[in-house]
Amino acid sequence: MAPPEKMSAADFDYIRNMVRDQAAIVLEVGKEYLVESRLLTLARKEGLNTVSSLVTQLRAAPGGPLQRKVVDAMTTNETSFFRDLHPFETLRKAIIPAAMERRKVERQLNIWCGAASTGQEPYSIMMLIHEHFQELLGWNFRFVATDLSSEVLARAKAGRFSQLEVNRGLPAPLLVKHFMRHGMEWEIREDIRKRVEFRELNLIREWPVMPSMDIVFLRNVLIYFDADTKRQILGRIRRLLRPGGCLVLGGAETTLGLDDNYERVVVDRTTFYRVRAV
Ligand SMILES: C[S@@+](CC[C@H](N)C(=O)[O-])C[C@H]1O[C@@H](n2cnc3c(N)ncnc32)[C@H](O)[C@@H]1O
Repeated sequence: MAPPEKMSAADFDYIRNMVRDQAAIVLEVGKEYLVESRLLTLARKEGLNTVSSLVTQLRAAPGGPLQRKVVDAMTTNETSFFRDLHPFETLRKAIIPAAMERRKVERQLNIWCGAASTGQEPYSIMMLIHEHFQELLGWNFRFVATDLSSEVLARAKAGRFSQLEVNRGLPAPLLVKHFMRHGMEWEIREDIRKRVEFRELNLIREWPVMPSMDIVFLRNVLIYFDADTKRQILGRIRRLLRPGGCLVLGGAETTLGLDDNYERVVVDRTTFYRVRAV
């Protein structure tokens, strides 16, 4: 089979600008190969043979449903259960106990997972709560999980995972306890699935009404944005956090140099952030 034609510089620029505008994702020059291979997969799904015909369709109807599919295709949805492990240890040992202590009178606590991808991260947190903080389930407790991509959210909501996905990071006892086998897939228990409110939310657009938060997980998404966008998002999260509330970022992400209103807290191997008291 002939190799696919190379994407033109004009098409790459068009896609790059559109994705930046719609999702703030920065596609550096040099990422042509990545863009091309993702778009080719999408083009074939859409019944087209080439990336250039896909871009031609997109140019003809900007803002249409194809645009959304292209943006979805450009998101990196890499995730796994208990990714990096130590943030979940710190959640168990320090962050949730302190949040429950702060909120024990109201018996009301909110958690937001802001780039939930296919659901492994919010479900890891929910399993941890089931294992160690049963009391919280009897509180007025809300867990909101959001993502830009409707495609990954649909998968997250369904709560079904392949053998390969459950092999990545999920301890066998938790698999046995919290999942049921469905043919080739594993489905998370309904009581866990139903506690998570999955919603679409583009971090750079207007947010739907969100409750004040005690804990925000926003891991491995700021890395795709430029400094200004990171700064704006960190500011908006700061305003959503309750006093003492915590923000957990990915290992390669920080508030340092972007927003001085956060203080850095280090527990064991985990760094998380709290709004500085004024
Ligand atoms: C690499 S995954 C991280 C998943 C999970 N937080 C983790 O660390 O395993 C990044 C996620 O961010 C989402 N994303 C990218 N741009 C976004 C935006 N502008 N608003 C909201 N979510 C976005 C993608 O759809 C993707 O699911």
